[in-house]
Amino acid sequence: MAKTYKIAELGGDGTGPEVVRESRKVLEVAAQRFGFKLSWENYDWGGDRYLRTGEVLPPSAAETLSQHDAILLGAIGHPDVKPGILEKGILLKLRFDLKQYINLRPVKLYPGVWTPLKDKGPEHIDFVVVRENNEGLYTGAGGFLKYGTSEEVATQLSIQSRAGCDRCLKFAFELTRHRNKRKTLTLVGKTNVLTYEFDLWERAFHDMGNKYPDIKRDYNHVDACCMWFVKNPEWYDVIVTNNLFGDIITDLGAMIQGGMGIASGGNINPEGVSMYEPIGGSAPKYTGQNIINPMAAIGAGAMLLEHSLGEIEAALAIERAIMKTTAEKMQSQSAGKMGMGTTQVGDTVAQLVADGI
Ligand code: IPM
Ligand code: MN
Repeated sequence: MAKTYKIAELGGDGTGPEVVRESRKVLEVAAQRFGFKLSWENYDWGGDRYLRTGEVLPPSAAETLSQHDAILLGAIGHPDVKPGILEKGILLKLRFDLKQYINLRPVKLYPGVWTPLKDKGPEHIDFVVVRENNEGLYTGAGGFLKYGTSEEVATQLSIQSRAGCDRCLKFAFELTRHRNKRKTLTLVGKTNVLTYEFDLWERAFHDMGNKYPDIKRDYNHVDACCMWFVKNPEWYDVIVTNNLFGDIITDLGAMIQGGMGIASGGNINPEGVSMYEPIGGSAPKYTGQNIINPMAAIGAGAMLLEHSLGEIEAALAIERAIMKTTAEKMQSQSAGKMGMGTTQVGDTVAQLVADGI
């Protein structure tokens, strides 16, 4: 009997549901071709539900999601809700509650995709950022003193544990070995200023690295790393970094791989349930017009197959279909300029998966 996987579908806000629909379409075709089944459960968590009910997430949300094999998320962020409420209340809460301590963000330039980097092509831009996803400045530790007065002080603490470094580094070293490309793992930090947090990262990096003699270790300050992303992206294989630096450098990464329309990521708990998403936002101004690019969500679907379901062949088939679509069928990766609509991009990729390319 065909294996059935349980997938939670969280369309979220704005264009989120539209792009997730296309990803689901492609995943269904891949399931059919590779002989497994997907059973979907849809959850309406997001800005509209919050405005209607006053509740950001039901208290049982994490528990409910952990009954699934994986989660596919569209985007969180609503123009009528104050920034921070949904992002913290849904996205960050789920990342934390489900212990998704890795945020995996591939930066790969597909054929035919325009990059703002002059003289760089797909052979130069193919690396992965492993962003720590549960600690650092994202824990919310800190506060105000003398709030609202002229002497006010605000603190925001970066909390990084050794165990948090170790589990993230282990994932990153294993991934570097498994990719088997340049066999180089680069720690990105700021050892010259953040002398406590990155001293810890650095010691943990080398202690762990001693167990991976086949992997070359490198280190970049985060500011220099931004420079090299633009000048020499081909130097990178796998990068490991903390939560905030990972957030920032992956927006730059997304731009050099062709923009938010095509940048996918996974919030991974290697021992639990993981959540895959386009790394861009909900783009509310494009909602309902069939012009948003679903490629990042489709790529997130391929990551889900690879990392959560272990359906590697199906994941590779989707990636090949994405590459043929970017190379031969789409005019651009920007919303409204693709030369086709949102649903057509989904149909095109799905058809190529069905055709068995
Ligand atoms: C991302 C986003 C989130 C983050 C925001 C929406 C909280 O920018 O997924 O990169 O900072 O992690
Ligand atoms: Mn971000």
